[in-house]
Amino acid sequence: MTGTTKPARKRRMALLAASALIAGALGAGGMMQGTAVAAPACTVDYKVVNDWGNGFTASVTVTNNAASALSNWKVEWDYAGNQKAGSGWNATVAQSGAHVTVTAPSWNSTLSSGGSANFGFNGTYSGSNPAPSTFKLNGTTCNVDSGDPGDPGDPGDPGDPGTPGNRVDNPYAGAKLYVNPDWSAQARRSGGAAIANQPTAVWLDRISAITSGSAGENSMGLRDHLDAALAQGATALQMVTYNLPGRDCAALASQGELGPTEIDKYKRQFIDPIAAILSDPKYASLRIINVVEIDSLPNLITNVGSRPTATANCDTMLANGNYVKGVGYALAKLGAIPNVYNYIDIGHHGWLGWDDNFAPTAKLLYQAATSEGSTVNNVAGFAANVANYGALKEPHFTINDSVNGTSVRQSKWVDWNRYVDEQSYAQAFREEAVKAGFRSDVGVIIDTSRNGWGGPNRPSAPAAKTSLDAFVDGSRVDRRIHTGNWCNQAGAGLGERPKAAPAPGIDAYAWIKPPGESDGASEDIPNEEGKKADQMCDPDYGGNARNGNSKSGALDGAPLSGHWFQAQFEELLRNAYPPIN
Ligand code: BGC
Repeated sequence: MTGTTKPARKRRMALLAASALIAGALGAGGMMQGTAVAAPACTVDYKVVNDWGNGFTASVTVTNNAASALSNWKVEWDYAGNQKAGSGWNATVAQSGAHVTVTAPSWNSTLSSGGSANFGFNGTYSGSNPAPSTFKLNGTTCNVDSGDPGDPGDPGDPGDPGTPGNRVDNPYAGAKLYVNPDWSAQARRSGGAAIANQPTAVWLDRISAITSGSAGENSMGLRDHLDAALAQGATALQMVTYNLPGRDCAALASQGELGPTEIDKYKRQFIDPIAAILSDPKYASLRIINVVEIDSLPNLITNVGSRPTATANCDTMLANGNYVKGVGYALAKLGAIPNVYNYIDIGHHGWLGWDDNFAPTAKLLYQAATSEGSTVNNVAGFAANVANYGALKEPHFTINDSVNGTSVRQSKWVDWNRYVDEQSYAQAFREEAVKAGFRSDVGVIIDTSRNGWGGPNRPSAPAAKTSLDAFVDGSRVDRRIHTGNWCNQAGAGLGERPKAAPAPGIDAYAWIKPPGESDGASEDIPNEEGKKADQMCDPDYGGNARNGNSKSGALDGAPLSGHWFQAQFEELLRNAYPPIN
């Protein structure tokens, strides 16, 4: 600390004391009687962002125009109609008669000078739904933001990201995507200069990642990334929220820091602080693409109950409902921020492509998307193949092929699945989700970071139809031993480079899993992230019911999930498809 900071600090204290005195002088009614006030010390922007006739969603931004910070901020207004505000997000909303009192959340209780806070809520009404005409911030009457140009967040302003009702259909279209400097530097150092400028997603995989970087070698927190995105002139940033209670219930590699019952901690210490950062008006010009909780809901379909694939942990998470609640809460909270685009994870074709799993998944996702105050308006779409290896398109055969009259569905590899690749799966799932109640404009992201399957073992033509299995096995570019294999796959390569709107219903091919980051360790490595050794990451393991009791196909010597795995990165570069020039 230098000597010059001390007087400045004193000055701030003095101002705070003065404003406390003024606040005290206002008394319970809060109106300043007979005192001339030069300019209101606050501005309130109250917007109805969605209205369905007898209910509505409001988004309110309060700005502190005073020279000093304000602690424990509180906003009040009276409704002229019979509106009833329900519980809100980013603040506590309470109503008595027509009077509404909104109090700051503990994690965002101070409004700095010039700073803003945004909160929202759903309300009901009958008749008309006029906006309140007067607002007070800690007792002082505020300016009402009239929607004049220049107020951040108003429609048509520069950088206006739109409201939940008018987000762009595809956030990737026309966007300049953020390149994560942490990953980029690592890739460059590791022989990957040719691809180091590709955009990859930022993973928020534990509470501390919000402020100081996620697993492994990453150093930047969420604000650092958002600031760096602005500095890059990016218009979109991709992130993953990945920290549910009882995370990774069917495996050990990515078990997390929160136990199965810690849903409140997830809400208050993970999602709420992320929402507080993302709703900073400074970032309103960025489209924030958020992939929600990989593998969680799919696990509740396939790895529970009487299925041979069930695990005790997944049964627990189904029974306690905390995956559904956590996803619903994340969608509601982050979806209330107009420039956030949420994509819910849909596993991959080799997981959910069977009839038993496909439609039930769409229904479960709908249930989650309409829980905890969320609506389907909070869902921009779905994310397929995240951190997985399923081929984007099998070029040499389709699900409609047959050999001597027998469908490829009966081959050992396809095993009655309805899909042979990710793109056909993603497009079909989109349709199923719309049938289940999702918006008709949802799109799918396909993670193509590691599903390239190039290199010397890539078949260049369909195989001869000598037998069903010979045809399928000789034709498929996905060279895995079994589609249930997911850890550090030998022979895999980088897939399609990130690309917006590559096919109908597909919002983007995107690199969500940063290539080079491990899927899991084969041997115990002490750590504080909750991660454990996973046999699926051990090349000598003989498998289980979830991978048809096959070999794991994993590369040996892997570090913990999320940590840099140089040998895998080199494998991915070597086997890239399309190849790297
Ligand atoms: C790990 C995370 C990591 C992510 C991206 C997951 O498997 O559990 O810690 O951030 O992969 O590499």
